[in-house]
Amino acid sequence: MALVLKTDIERGDSWHRAFRALLPELELRDWRAPGAPEDIEFALVWAPEQGALAKFPNLKAIFSIGAGIDHLASDPDLPPGVPIVRMVEPGLTAGMVEFVVMSALYHHRFMLDYAVQQREKVWREIEQIPTFRRRVGILGLGVLGSACAEKLCDFGFQVAGWSRRPKSQVGVESFHDADGLTAFLKRSDILVCLLPLTDETEGILNAETLGALPHGAAFISVGRGKHVVETDLLSALDSGQIGGATLDVFREEPLPPDSPFWSHPRIVVVPHIASMTIAETAAEAVAQNIRRVQAGQPPEHIVDLDRGY
Ligand code: NAP
Ligand code: GLV
Repeated sequence: MALVLKTDIERGDSWHRAFRALLPELELRDWRAPGAPEDIEFALVWAPEQGALAKFPNLKAIFSIGAGIDHLASDPDLPPGVPIVRMVEPGLTAGMVEFVVMSALYHHRFMLDYAVQQREKVWREIEQIPTFRRRVGILGLGVLGSACAEKLCDFGFQVAGWSRRPKSQVGVESFHDADGLTAFLKRSDILVCLLPLTDETEGILNAETLGALPHGAAFISVGRGKHVVETDLLSALDSGQIGGATLDVFREEPLPPDSPFWSHPRIVVVPHIASMTIAETAAEAVAQNIRRVQAGQPPEHIVDLDRGY
């Protein structure tokens, strides 16, 4: 039983160690030298070249190394009928919860303003707002969004989520569908984007939707860069409609040196690190799914390519 792995060289060793402990019978083949293509039954990949997966005739499942599968869905030559499985694993979820909570607290506690004051040697208190008066809105209440919502509720924030279908998560106000979007935005002082990138969600954060937020709202962008119309975000920041933003994902990555985001005083830029798949915990999730497939069952967390996530 062979799995072809496409990851960066630094992380390859962790995957090898983890799979050796969990599924010693699984042979790991390197993407650059996979050997006979017909041996390969599973692929664990991030951003494979278009058409490359179609070269393995006996694939039983394609595992995305990340939660997002836009890097796969954009391939017009995916092997037909082979399930694509998104990454759901506790390490990735924990990392996203840490990042979103940290960023929400950063904006909530006016840290952007204090950073400016420090540079200018200004000693000035800004009136503290209790979390119970701050409304956080999470676009996308799936695996990651709902885990972030739960932790933000623990801090006492007023939390709401927006999804395609209505949700019933304790303490989280649910908005759904296009009809619920404006009402959701109007009540979000801190907006977090944790949507998948699909035809429906591309460009969803634009002049109109950013304009529906309360004046001075904060924006935390951790879904995908293409959710955001970047020129509209800049205009909203410059007018004060958006008071501050933490941006982890961008239309073009790495962010080009001439991007105005780098030096904007109301923006925190980080290089797509909000969360990372942790090989030790993720290999367990992949191994469980391989065992399911070997037992004739469908893997868990199959992507619906028509829906786009
Ligand atoms: P998920 O479990 O599939 O959740 C997706 C959520 O988005 C669901 O609640 C879904 O609604 C909602 N949604 C999708 N399309 C929608 C639409 N058109 N209108 C309203 N709601 C819509 O995905 P996940 O595991 O939480 O991951 C979410 C995304 O996070 C990934 O796709 C990836 O892009 C991003 N991500 C980023 C990083 C990073 O480091 N920056 C790391 C991991 C993931 P339903 O529940 O009704 O289906
Ligand atoms: C990272 O961006 C992921 O999709 O897991």
